[in-house]
Amino acid sequence: MVFSRRQVLGGLLGLGVVGLGAGGVRYWLGRTDGAAGHDYELIAAPLQLELVPGHPSPAWAYGGQAPGLELRSRQGDWLRVRFINKLDVPTTIHWHGIRLPLEMDGVPYVSQLPVLPGEYFDYRFKTPDAGSFWYHPHVASGEQLGRGLVGPLIVEEREPTGFRHERTLTLKTWHIDEQGAFTAFSLPREAARGGTAGRLSTVSGAHLPTLELPAGQVVRLRLMNLDSTLTYRLNLPGAEARIYALDGNPVQPRPLGKEYWLGPGMRIDLALRVPAVGQELALRNGPLRLATLRALDSAGQPAGDWPSALPANPVAEPDLATAETLRFNFEWSAELAGSGANAGRAKYWQINGEAWDIDDKSCAERPIARLKLGRSYIFELRNMAQYQHPIHLHGMTFKVLSSDRKSILPYFTDTYLLGKNERARIALVADNPGVWMFHCHVIDHMETGLMASIEVA
Ligand code: C2O
Ligand code: CU
Ligand code: CU
Repeated sequence: MVFSRRQVLGGLLGLGVVGLGAGGVRYWLGRTDGAAGHDYELIAAPLQLELVPGHPSPAWAYGGQAPGLELRSRQGDWLRVRFINKLDVPTTIHWHGIRLPLEMDGVPYVSQLPVLPGEYFDYRFKTPDAGSFWYHPHVASGEQLGRGLVGPLIVEEREPTGFRHERTLTLKTWHIDEQGAFTAFSLPREAARGGTAGRLSTVSGAHLPTLELPAGQVVRLRLMNLDSTLTYRLNLPGAEARIYALDGNPVQPRPLGKEYWLGPGMRIDLALRVPAVGQELALRNGPLRLATLRALDSAGQPAGDWPSALPANPVAEPDLATAETLRFNFEWSAELAGSGANAGRAKYWQINGEAWDIDDKSCAERPIARLKLGRSYIFELRNMAQYQHPIHLHGMTFKVLSSDRKSILPYFTDTYLLGKNERARIALVADNPGVWMFHCHVIDHMETGLMASIEVA
């Protein structure tokens, strides 16, 4: 494969190279089909964050904030991001949940070469589905996501949805100590179990924030788990809240219920009826408070009503009658790190007996499955371990069909939280050609073997 899009940044002059030349105000060309565009220049750079009052943490940030700048596109439009790497390590951006061409998927040595310090890369793709998505590197993920390179990407619906208010709430727990210093992003004994957890929880970058919402209104809360390890058991005691979308895909609205398990990488869109002025709600992870939601005077706005269901995304419906079934076993692996001449990265996890080696650039050339373009497939996912795995597929959206552990109302998603020893069935139409990563989104698990590639051709 030949990679050609990566470019060296030569100061401001360099920024003009693909553009209209001297004096050009817009450097994006090639709008072939007239669809509108959303243009960003996104810089990744070091940033001192004050997560612990009085103590700086040496974070890495997109657009000067961590979690990163909220990018917005609109369904069917082009999103164009000139990504500039001002870190001193190579990186890429992967657009989690977006169905896009392989060259834009941000996987090193599969989609593109890593973007080196001082280089830039132009990401440009259409956003076919409306919903709540996110972005993050796919290089040295433990450290890069751990230091803050995670950000929300919102794709707005083409028509008004009936929601007049919305808030994005990103969830991330930081691996830092009492002085704000980063602690290990991965510890072997944790990687081999549930993954290495951080210790300071944040909602939209702040620890235990109080967030003000308009009293009496129905607000769309886009909750995103951008954490590397934790599954949040989300609950809002006493609140009137309904689920409108899971992982960017609409569902028939239904009550939030007691709690929802949001694994790493997953998103949930809730409609919340904000209580009367002055009242408060607790957004919690199990029994632990993450944030306080306070109802603020909404200046005489008429009380909001529950919007109708969000419009479905144009995802192909798998044909279960003709689908071929493939089995994927996610299991513990006994292959520990060697020492001396055999020193290497530990492999604690494997899929169908194969552990991915993140230091081996050729792994993707040996796909674990080859799918025929246009055909339907059922994947039988089997978790052989007592730790959960949020299983994520790049490039295509899949439909969750059933589980032996819980009743499933079939829905489309890009990540399925496979519980302890659970078996689940998912289905998809292999409609996007390429080599797509298929992995657990507990970053510790992914980096110690729980990743594979799936080819569609
Ligand atoms: Cu959000 Cu390959 O992942
Ligand atoms: Cu992804
Ligand atoms: Cu896992």
